[in-house]
Amino acid sequence: MTKIVVIGATGTLGRAVTAELKARHEVIEVGATRGQYRVDSTDPASIEKLFREIGKVDGVVTTTGKLHFGPLPEMTVEQFWVGLRDKLMGQINVVLTAQQYVNDGGSFTLTSGILADEPIRQGANATTVNLALEGFVRGAAIELPRGIRINVVSPTVLTESLEAYGPFFYGFEAVTAQRAAQAYLRSVEGAQTGRVYRVGS
Ligand SMILES: NC(=O)c1ccc[n+]([C@@H]2O[C@H](COP(=O)([O-])OP(=O)(O)OC[C@H]3O[C@@H](n4cnc5c(N)ncnc54)[C@H](OP(=O)(O)O)[C@@H]3O)[C@@H](O)[C@H]2O)c1
Repeated sequence: MTKIVVIGATGTLGRAVTAELKARHEVIEVGATRGQYRVDSTDPASIEKLFREIGKVDGVVTTTGKLHFGPLPEMTVEQFWVGLRDKLMGQINVVLTAQQYVNDGGSFTLTSGILADEPIRQGANATTVNLALEGFVRGAAIELPRGIRINVVSPTVLTESLEAYGPFFYGFEAVTAQRAAQAYLRSVEGAQTGRVYRVGS
């Protein structure tokens, strides 16, 4: 049985990914304020502390990331930094810090989102961050050592989140978190690297 850590395991998407992985793996569930373990992925020292506690793993999945949604004409630089600091650098911090804790042939699986491909009103921060994550994965895949792979999952809006985000996503078909979770299995259990797995686009 391989050991997979899910950072964001207490969230809407992370709960489904954790449930699917648990069928075949030992899963370490990490949240920010809840869960078996806690981390603040915006703080590399907190990530280092987490991995010192849990030790070596075969896979790292991140389903975290705050973004700023708001009209561009009123957007401040500080608001734009929300997505850069939290969703973009939060996940990149995890890869940079955790790489020496991943066993040979292990994997990273990050999370972007459909707004990478389908911009919406008030979504400039999300589109930027999601595409930057896909760029990071493309760049990192050719350089990660010891057969370590890296992919990113880009889901459309989740059925479970429609109540919260519905008005931003008229005309988009939602998918369940359980369906989106299948792409994480493909990344963790498959052999590909440098891929963007789009779900429901
Ligand atoms: N929901 C959707 O429809 C949808 C669609 C496409 C893409 N996505 C993307 O999927 C990701 C997760 O979305 P979600 O809806 O599942 O969000 P969510 O329900 O708010 O869950 C976020 C998760 O991240 C954790 N977290 C928050 N801040 C953190 C930090 N600084 N360090 C470490 N962990 C942190 C939370 O822990 P606590 O529970 O302890 O706070 C929680 O486990 C986001 O990147 C989002 O953009 C979501």
